[in-house]
Amino acid sequence: MDQNQLKQLVGEKSVDWIKDGMIVGLGTGSTVKFMVDALGQKIQAGELKNIIGVTTSKVTAKQAQQLGITLKSVDEVDHIDLTIDGADEISAAFHGIKGGGAALLFEKIVATNSSKNIWIVDQSKMVQDLGAFPLPVEVIPYGSQKVFERFEAKGFKPTFRKKEDGGLLLTDSDNYIIDLHLEKITNPHELATYLDQQVGIVEHGLFLDLVNTVIVGEQDGPKVLEAR
Ligand code: A5P
Repeated sequence: MDQNQLKQLVGEKSVDWIKDGMIVGLGTGSTVKFMVDALGQKIQAGELKNIIGVTTSKVTAKQAQQLGITLKSVDEVDHIDLTIDGADEISAAFHGIKGGGAALLFEKIVATNSSKNIWIVDQSKMVQDLGAFPLPVEVIPYGSQKVFERFEAKGFKPTFRKKEDGGLLLTDSDNYIIDLHLEKITNPHELATYLDQQVGIVEHGLFLDLVNTVIVGEQDGPKVLEAR
């Protein structure tokens, strides 16, 4: 199986965790796309009724709407039973980097308001330590050059994320993304605390102590890991 087939495998498998009547957070990305398709099929077949989706990006919202999934915003629901999302890296300690698809802000808002979080990934995302994948940081445009310079001075090797046409990428909230090329993050909590304290940073892609269950796509099938 190639990487895309592994993503499909875990995307479809994860829908087993969705039960009738649940309010479900719907993540973002190419793996989640398979999950949303499978959920839509189950709803259309009448196997799942009364599902409410809470989306984490405009892209996922559009896909879910096309499939006829009822949607509410995070502010319109009193709880979220379960959120299923992808990840860019998951460490041995079950910490994650997210935001490769630039949706980290809404993803973190939905994740932190969910009773349970499941991440679905192909096996290439499982690592010992985080950091080989560039860490996305969402910043307010005003003053973003100053934030960038502070990152440079810290040796974080920042780059502004760009669109294909060379212009700066804008998130769903009209912010910029600065990617930090750290190679290895030895103390993710310390880094998260530093980033949380910087003026101009809206959110960062370190998702620490958040995930409950990881479903990994491996060649011999999906493997379910429970975080400690
Ligand atoms: C979106 O901003 C990300 O957090 C995605 O969840 C992450 O990049 C995984 O995406 P893929 O499933 O496309 O690899």
